[in-house]
Formats: sequence, structure tokens, C-alpha cells
Amino acid sequence: MQTHHTLASLRAQLRQWRRDGASIGFVPTMGNLHAGHYALVELARRHADKVVASIFVNPTQFGPNEDYARYPRTPESDINGLAENRCDALFLPPVEQMYPYGTIGCVQMHVPGITDILCGAHRPGHFNGVAQVVARLFNMVQPDLAVFGRKDYQQLQVIRYMAREMSFPVEIIPAPTLREADGLAMSSRNQYLQGDERQTATRIHQTLVFMRDAARQGLPLPGIEDQARERLEAAGFSVDYAEIRRADLSRPRSGEAGQVALIAARLGRTRLIDNLEFENV
Ligand code: PAJ
Repeated sequence: MQTHHTLASLRAQLRQWRRDGASIGFVPTMGNLHAGHYALVELARRHADKVVASIFVNPTQFGPNEDYARYPRTPESDINGLAENRCDALFLPPVEQMYPYGTIGCVQMHVPGITDILCGAHRPGHFNGVAQVVARLFNMVQPDLAVFGRKDYQQLQVIRYMAREMSFPVEIIPAPTLREADGLAMSSRNQYLQGDERQTATRIHQTLVFMRDAARQGLPLPGIEDQARERLEAAGFSVDYAEIRRADLSRPRSGEAGQVALIAARLGRTRLIDNLEFENV
């Protein structure tokens, strides 16, 4: 596997593959890779001849009081893991490569509506930063397809919206959420959990299952959401939201069952998100 730090070097490799008629699959990440990320690489491989991954901790998607500085950076083990998982190329750009005019002078992206709800309401600017960096990466890699995890359900919707709206010729392929044996969704942020917090964190998935089952029984959604929030708070979480939404993240009408339960909650200094789609489970 080739690791490219510059766009020029990445593009030289991509040109060669294109000349050979290979299709390109792309897996963008922020590194500190785990089995969930490697499953994305494997899924990309099933759909494309060559797989390119990127690792870039994107400053524009972190708020001023968020964990940009302490976000775990483990390039050596990531490179080994990607090579073992048969990734063909890694793009690992420095900030200046991604933002030649800096993060203040850069061209902005604003995706309306969907970026303001749920996580967007608690992390202002976050999804616009995600859309901005993914648009840049799509222009740099020019993949035929790109794989995104369902773990970040709202992010997947934002990227689909942006790709369609901007006519990016990229097929967006969703990947299932990989979980630890006890149900906790794998995440680079799980390693922030201290002591008992790791055990408590399993309550998120348990609460999502409760929300799905209660919705399936036809109980009113506001009551389910209140109970979910109470359960999480009793376990020690500070809850950003625990909600049931339609697949497109709009609010179900009264009497409608909803299609996905979503939770974002903080445990100590760690913010965890997860969701459960009702049909797939
Ligand atoms: P990151 O959190 O590193 O995640 C990279 C990709 O891995 C995303 O598509 C995410 O949904 C997926 N992923 C993470 N944990 C997963 C799990 N347990 N199961 C399945 N997929 C999982 O998401 C980002 O980076 C960034 O916002 C990015 C899109 C790279 C833009 O900066």
C-alpha cells in the first residue's frame, strides 16, 4: 500500500489506475482505525477494483471546545492495519494540503436544514465542516464510489444530500454499524471512557433497543423519548437527544411509528452517538 502525503503524488497513482481501467472506491476517515473502519475498506473492495482510504482529522468539523487537539492520532498502526486489510492507497494530507488558504480563508459549504437538527443543534457548524472536507476529498480522489458508516446516520444523510445537490459523480454506499460484543458501537472516542464509564456506555444500545421495541408496540413516541432520556440520565449520562425519527430524519406525525432511534449522550468528557434502524434488526 502506498501512502501519499501530497495531492500530486496521490493523483499520479490515480491516473495510473484510471489508465488501466480500474474503478476507485474511497473510504474517508479521521484515523485511529478500528474494525468498523476496516469493514468499510472491505465493503469498498467488493464494489471497486482499487480502494483508497484517507486519514485527516478535519479541524473545520470540530467546535472551539471540542476534542480536535486530543483526538487520537495513531498513523503507524493505522497504516499497518490498512495494509493488512488490503487497502491499495492511503491519502494522509497535512492541513495545508486540504486547506491551502487556511481554515479561515477557505471556501465554505453550507447544507441547509439537516445540519441544524439533532447533532447539528448541539454541534453548530459540525456538519458543514464535514460536508466541506468530504467535498474536497471527493474532488481530490474522484472516486466512483465512497463508503460511509450507518453509525453516523445523520452524517450519511448530509453527505448523500450534498453529493446529489452538487452532482458529484460518486455512488454513496452505506455500511452497517460494527459493535463490540456487548452492543457498544465501535468508535475512536470509546477509548476516552474511564473506569466504569465503559460498562455504562452499553446503556446507549440497550436504550435504543428499548425505543425500537416500544415504538413497534405502537406506544406514543414522545413518551418513549422521555423514558429513554430518563433511563440514560439515571445511568449517569448527560443527554443531548434521544429521539425517534423517520428515515430522512424528519419528525414522525402523531400515531406514526418512526423508522430510526437516535441517541447522543455525554458520559464524563466523552460524547457518544449511536442509532438503530427499525427494519434492519
Ligand atoms: P470517522 O469517525 O473516522 O469515521 C470514518 C467512517 O467510519 C465514517 O463513515 C463512519 O461512519 C465509519 N464508522 C465509524 N465507526 C463505525 C462503526 N462502528 N461501524 C461502521 N462504520 C463506522 O466520520 C468521520 O470520520 C469524519 O466525519 C469524516 C467522514 C472522515 C469527515 O471528516
